[in-house]
Amino acid sequence: MRIILGVGGGIAAYKSALLLRLLTEAGHSVRVMPTAASLEFVGRATWEALSGEKATHEVFDDVDEVAHVRLGHEADLVVVAPATADLLARAASGRADDLLTTTLLTVTCPVLLAPAMHTEMWRHPATQANVELLRSRGVTVLEPDSGRLTGADSGPGRLPEPATIADAALGLVRTRDLAGLEVVVSAGGTVEALDPVRFLGNSSSGRQGVELARAALERGANVRLVTASIQVATPPGVAVTPVRSAREMQAVMVDAAATADVVVMAAAVADFRPETVATDKIKKVEGGEPPVLRLVENPDILAGLARDRRDGQTVVGFAAETGDADGSVLDHARSKARRKGADLLVANDVAGGRTFGAPDNAVTILDRDGGTVATASGSKAEVAHAVWDAVLHVRG
Ligand code: CTP
Repeated sequence: MRIILGVGGGIAAYKSALLLRLLTEAGHSVRVMPTAASLEFVGRATWEALSGEKATHEVFDDVDEVAHVRLGHEADLVVVAPATADLLARAASGRADDLLTTTLLTVTCPVLLAPAMHTEMWRHPATQANVELLRSRGVTVLEPDSGRLTGADSGPGRLPEPATIADAALGLVRTRDLAGLEVVVSAGGTVEALDPVRFLGNSSSGRQGVELARAALERGANVRLVTASIQVATPPGVAVTPVRSAREMQAVMVDAAATADVVVMAAAVADFRPETVATDKIKKVEGGEPPVLRLVENPDILAGLARDRRDGQTVVGFAAETGDADGSVLDHARSKARRKGADLLVANDVAGGRTFGAPDNAVTILDRDGGTVATASGSKAEVAHAVWDAVLHVRG
């Protein structure tokens, strides 16, 4: 894909070097268009070295090529980061006073602007009106992050992280290759009650499952998300069914699987639950023995879904593994793939609490025989897309 990366004149321009890296590493060719002011922050040599292409900012550079028209027509996507208050104003009013703003008037592809400025400038009615106008014209304007700004000040105005910008931008041009499919995804960690206030739980944040749902939605699927104690927001447009225990999750998943084309068990399901749930709060008895917990086994939801899957249905499981004396992460994952009978098993290494709640993940996607279908690493959104690619691959 051909991407134009516009860079505005703000201190956050240096973060766009990382954004450029992410876009080129994902296999895209990127043409950087810095504004004149941005070259005060990051020089042309950085952009040219990292992109392997010219970085021009003047309409009068390479006039013979009519660059603003040609580059604009060739582009599949435009990303502007940081978009300063001035750049937002110039884009909103249709100014054409440098190569970037002129090009913005010639493109027909999706455009994403990632603003960064001081909080006062972001909140100013003039800026907010410009953002609203740009959005009404179909331009995607990200909300800035909150946090420490250039000086001692803090508040909304920070440039979102490069990975967030890259995900949002690439999401705009994603093909709707899951259109017509009904998918159900479980996310989070089940909660097994001990008494009315206490429970056994786990550290799953639900982030990977939520990203799977978001990615499927972006790609046109009809998505149901079954959540257990998640710590992240769910995407609008996804039907959400909250549950608590493994058995509640099983009932909802089995029900949803009756019509789903793809079923994904990304939730961390408790293998055991307390044998009894006290109806009243368990009391500490002065001088008495601590209570002993007796556990009983929970149903294996994934194995059941895989066993009972309908014709043409794809069942995907996850395997959170740590290596040990008996084998590596992959050894354990391969035997789990064979044991569970799912069409795909997405294995990740969780040694030392890695991946729980983290924005990044690294996985190996295995087939039913334990063979490697794909590997993926990066943001949980990127991993989610790799999982859907693998689903489409096994569905043929
Ligand atoms: N899973 C499930 N029901 C359970 C336990 C796990 O559906 N009672 C699913 C998870 O959602 C995941 C896959 O099985 O998709 C593997 O989960 P994991 O916790 O890694 O494996 P376990 O089956 O619990 O095996 P073990 O704890 O022995 O590694």
